[in-house]
Amino acid sequence: MLVDCSLTDEDKNEMVVTPWEVKGKVDYERLVREFGTQPITKELLDKVRKHTGEVQSQLRRQLFFSHRDLDIVLDLYDKGIKFVLYTGRGPSGPVHIGHMIPWIFTKYLQDKFDTRLYFQMTDDEKFVVDDEAEMKETTRYAYDNALDLIALGFQPENTFIIYDIQDIDLLYDIALEVAKRITYSTAKATFGFQDSTNLGWVFWPAVQAVPCFIHKKMTGENVPALIPAAIDQDPYWRITRDIAPKLGYYKPAQIHNRFLPGLAIGGKMSASEPETAIFTTDPPELVKKKIWNAYTGGKGTIAEQKKQGGVPDICTIYEYFLFLFEEDDKKLTERSRQCRTGGIMCGECKQDLTERVNKFLAEHQRKRERAKTIIDKFHIKR
Ligand code: TYM
Repeated sequence: MLVDCSLTDEDKNEMVVTPWEVKGKVDYERLVREFGTQPITKELLDKVRKHTGEVQSQLRRQLFFSHRDLDIVLDLYDKGIKFVLYTGRGPSGPVHIGHMIPWIFTKYLQDKFDTRLYFQMTDDEKFVVDDEAEMKETTRYAYDNALDLIALGFQPENTFIIYDIQDIDLLYDIALEVAKRITYSTAKATFGFQDSTNLGWVFWPAVQAVPCFIHKKMTGENVPALIPAAIDQDPYWRITRDIAPKLGYYKPAQIHNRFLPGLAIGGKMSASEPETAIFTTDPPELVKKKIWNAYTGGKGTIAEQKKQGGVPDICTIYEYFLFLFEEDDKKLTERSRQCRTGGIMCGECKQDLTERVNKFLAEHQRKRERAKTIIDKFHIKR
């Protein structure tokens, strides 16, 4: 069952952005307005640059476009108050490359700020929100998905993976403190719960709030958490931020990324549409097939495209270069120019992308295998 969030739109775009469903054409400016977040300004990027020495490509390209209190976290950092990172994954199946967008950014922040990451594997969430899900499957995927995280190169000494079902004893007291302070009417307004929503799901947002605060329990140190995630997760933080001061914690800060689209028109890459998603375990031939079937900004015939050019702004292939597979800004701009002026055809872009994705995945799959030998070093209860 999927709930309708208050943001569900009835206009012709039919944008829906909730933690459990994203569809339609996503209007990010409208999300900033309606969710009440702040856009990432040039001044804020300058503040980041002061600490990092450069502006990482995901920030430069505005793939991270919105935040809550990132400025405050950086000001505190200047005064000697560190922060911890927090992000997560709902292990309902294999990881796709869209899930890794916030993780890649999180790794960059961990390296630059030398800070801890708490990573929540929500095998409990995936069990309660999906009528068909089985607990042994979601717990199995929690370990499987952790391999993808570890393969990205996080520092073991600074990375703490929480497997919710297994580690609930660490979380439960804080979850109760949180749950006691959020009324059903607030939860219903935020998440659109209905009479048919099961109790496990209604309680669930309290569990996702816990890692915002767990550092104090682990170390005695009270510092803010900074959460890199796509904007779909924001409703959780709205309710968590309201109650944080009542419990004596900092309000958790966020930095929100856009969605990597699927290979079809509209929406985000989603595991529920496997033919339009690239999973980290996909073999090369399958990747090639998916990319060759992708929706592009090309014209009906080669002759037309040579004459009129293509439209990179609506092309999923171009988006993949933008998000992950072209580090060089100049080369990216040149590809866009070539497309618009009919100098490059969709087949060439698909070919280039297939090669790059398969190269990336071959390396990732190798590191993923290696992660099996070190996974225990990352468990919060090591
Ligand atoms: P999940 O498993 O749906 O998604 C994992 C992370 O990936 C982001 N995401 C995407 N980013 C870019 N492009 C996409 N196509 C795309 N699809 C998903 C999500 O925003 C998320 O950051 N309830 C959470 C698990 C969780 C969590 C957290 C996530 C627990 N605590 C703290 C972020 C931060 C979930 O089911 O995520």
